Amino acid sequence: MFFIFLVVFFLIYSFFFSYYRLLRGDAPFVPVPSVVMSEITKALEIGENSVVYDLGCGDGKVLMACLRTQPKAKYVGYEINLSIFLLAWIRMLKTKKYRSIKIFRKNFFGADFSKATHVFTYLMPRQMEKLEEKFERELSPGTRLVTCSFPLKIKEPSGIIELGRSKLFLVRKIYVYDF
Ligand SMILES: C[S@@+](CC[C@H](N)C(=O)[O-])C[C@H]1O[C@@H](n2cnc3c(N)ncnc32)[C@H](O)[C@@H]1O
Repeated sequence: MFFIFLVVFFLIYSFFFSYYRLLRGDAPFVPVPSVVMSEITKALEIGENSVVYDLGCGDGKVLMACLRTQPKAKYVGYEINLSIFLLAWIRMLKTKKYRSIKIFRKNFFGADFSKATHVFTYLMPRQMEKLEEKFERELSPGTRLVTCSFPLKIKEPSGIIELGRSKLFLVRKIYVYDF
């Protein structure tokens, strides 16, 4: 009974929190579709010494997929929604790779990106606009950014991957940037 209460509480919390953040122009929790995951990991080109950040990591799906393709790299996720963060945390515990993955319940605008070699985002246009200034300030030269659906406003991408999906889907393009 207590467990059911807990699940219902987190579902309601998650719904209202996402709605509140959406009103402020922040992305709600919408996981990236599994069918495009291989294109994302390919576009990132993660190496053994890479440090991959997922800004708004959701349930950790992208980080886990990247970990499977390159187990020697380091992974960092930031997630602001407590209940979604807990899902990512459980996923992380299941991998038992505590040294390789770190997931923080934190607003990524307060994080330092200077150690990242690779960044992944699937966010809202307004957030991408605000992040662009932070990327220019903090990302080290050579850092690769891969972003789903919404490009940066000013910087030109070094590649655009057309996923060939119908207009009904939000994720139809992946943008690649090299800083
Ligand atoms: C569209 S989902 C993407 C989730 C995951 N990256 C994926 O692709 O499957 C965006 C996630 O970013 C989180 N988010 C939005 N704004 C955030 C912020 N300022 N700091 C941390 N997380 C944020 C949301 O709670 C949500 O889970």
